[in-house]
Amino acid sequence: MFLKSFILLCISVAISNSEVILKQVVILSRHNVRTPLAKNLAMMTPKIWPTWKEKRGYLTSKGELLEGFMGEYFSLWLRKEGVLAELCPTEDVFFAYANTAQRTMASAKAFVRKGFPSCNITVYHKEDKDPIFDPIVHNDSTVFRQQVLEEMQLHLRSLVLNHSYETLENILDYKKSNCCEIDNKCDLVTDKNQAFVSFGTKPYLSGPLKLSKSAIDSFIMENYEGFPLNEVAWGQLWNMNQWNGIIALSRGYHDVIFNTTLISKDISKPLRDYIKELFINETNIPKVVFIMGHDANLYTLLNSMGVKPYNLKGQYEKVPVGGKVVFQKWFDTQNSTFYMKIDYVYQNTQGMREGLRLSMENPPEFTLLELHGCKINDEGFCLWDDFKKLLNTL
Ligand SMILES: *[C@@H]1O[C@H](CO)[C@@H](O)[C@H](O)[C@H]1NC(C)=O
Ligand SMILES: *[C@@H]1O[C@H](CO)[C@@H](O)[C@H](O)[C@H]1NC(C)=O
Ligand SMILES: *[C@@H]1O[C@H](CO)[C@@H](O)[C@H](O)[C@H]1NC(C)=O
Ligand SMILES: *[C@@H]1O[C@H](CO)[C@@H](O)[C@H](O)[C@H]1NC(C)=O
Ligand SMILES: *[C@@H]1O[C@H](CO)[C@@H](O)[C@H](O)[C@H]1NC(C)=O
Ligand SMILES: *[C@@H]1O[C@H](CO)[C@@H](O)[C@H](O)[C@H]1NC(C)=O
Repeated sequence: MFLKSFILLCISVAISNSEVILKQVVILSRHNVRTPLAKNLAMMTPKIWPTWKEKRGYLTSKGELLEGFMGEYFSLWLRKEGVLAELCPTEDVFFAYANTAQRTMASAKAFVRKGFPSCNITVYHKEDKDPIFDPIVHNDSTVFRQQVLEEMQLHLRSLVLNHSYETLENILDYKKSNCCEIDNKCDLVTDKNQAFVSFGTKPYLSGPLKLSKSAIDSFIMENYEGFPLNEVAWGQLWNMNQWNGIIALSRGYHDVIFNTTLISKDISKPLRDYIKELFINETNIPKVVFIMGHDANLYTLLNSMGVKPYNLKGQYEKVPVGGKVVFQKWFDTQNSTFYMKIDYVYQNTQGMREGLRLSMENPPEFTLLELHGCKINDEGFCLWDDFKKLLNTL
């Protein structure tokens, strides 16, 4: 009896001795639910697309609601972990930064408004196009252009999408679309994809893969927005199997334009340098920096940092709207060691459809990420020194 409680005491001392404290956080987010971006949706199908209240590419009121829930959750979490103490943190403690697009600014404002109600927190943004978020090619050499095109074409050729194209053609009733009847592009499987890369612009793909991605993007947003299931893709995407029948098209598109080595390194450089500065320059850095950008920013940053393949449970998107890559610098008080931990924090599709509010009892999903250059331990921590070394090689 005595021995038993002695052992228990020893165990609890050992546990309480090793305490890790969250010191610094950088949150890289994608804007929340927006209206579809593509201008040519009506060309792709004889069917009528759902109508949206907001302008093309704008954050929807559902997106604002969901991003507000994220703000509420993160504010609670950051307080629980002790990174934020004050009710209304000042800019040198919590700094919010968004791209100039309406959907990114409105998302960041929704996050801050709900996370820090009745505080006067400004969302910082540039006046014009912000190079940190602009997913353009920076390298002007023709050699680079050739290398990138080769990488993209290699990836395009490796995709096996026949079955997905056929499934999407059926959903769209593509043979009766204007694309087919007017433009004579009638076969997603055999029509050609073409990649374009040039200095100062976003990499571009024309052809059936781009078209498919645009249609699927609309289905994904309709689903998050909470359109009735018989209206999402005209009632043809009820279950996981049906989504899985087409989602490879969207993944393939994003992999081709953003998820190859050379292009991701080049495109994400300004954002990577900004984040690197936040972690390496130890003077005057806010404890929490919240950055609101686009899928292109997340794809290229994750690839260029060497993130290992990951799977987001309950999500069709690899880089979901409202999802956040959360870089956390932790300190182990027992052996005075710093660590980096990276989680993908996001809400699952069903929760978004239903508009479920987040809280400490009902948190968003956390999926641990690992970088090739920073081996994690059982708790998901990698050594800060390894992370720093990795940042310096990028
Ligand atoms: C510090 O202690 C933790 C356990 O509290 C352990 O996981 C980690 O490996 C230690 N770090 C070093 C550098 O010894
Ligand atoms: C809120 O902050 C802005 C910019 O920091 C400042 O111009 C404004 O006066 C503040 N408003 C209130 C009510 O404190
Ligand atoms: C541009 O690309 C070329 C070819 O890949 C490479 O050698 C060069 O270092 C790149 N320039 C910059 C500034 O990254
Ligand atoms: C896909 O379709 C193309 C064009 O019809 C055909 O050449 C190719 O063999 C098909 N591939 C597979 C894996 O079915
Ligand atoms: C760190 O930040 C300070 C103040 O913002 C700046 O003056 C300095 O150049 C930065 N240091 C590095 C190494 O970037
Ligand atoms: C990028 O490509 C890799 C390898 O093809 C894949 O495992 C990973 O899931 C992709 N990343 C994203 C964010 O889609």
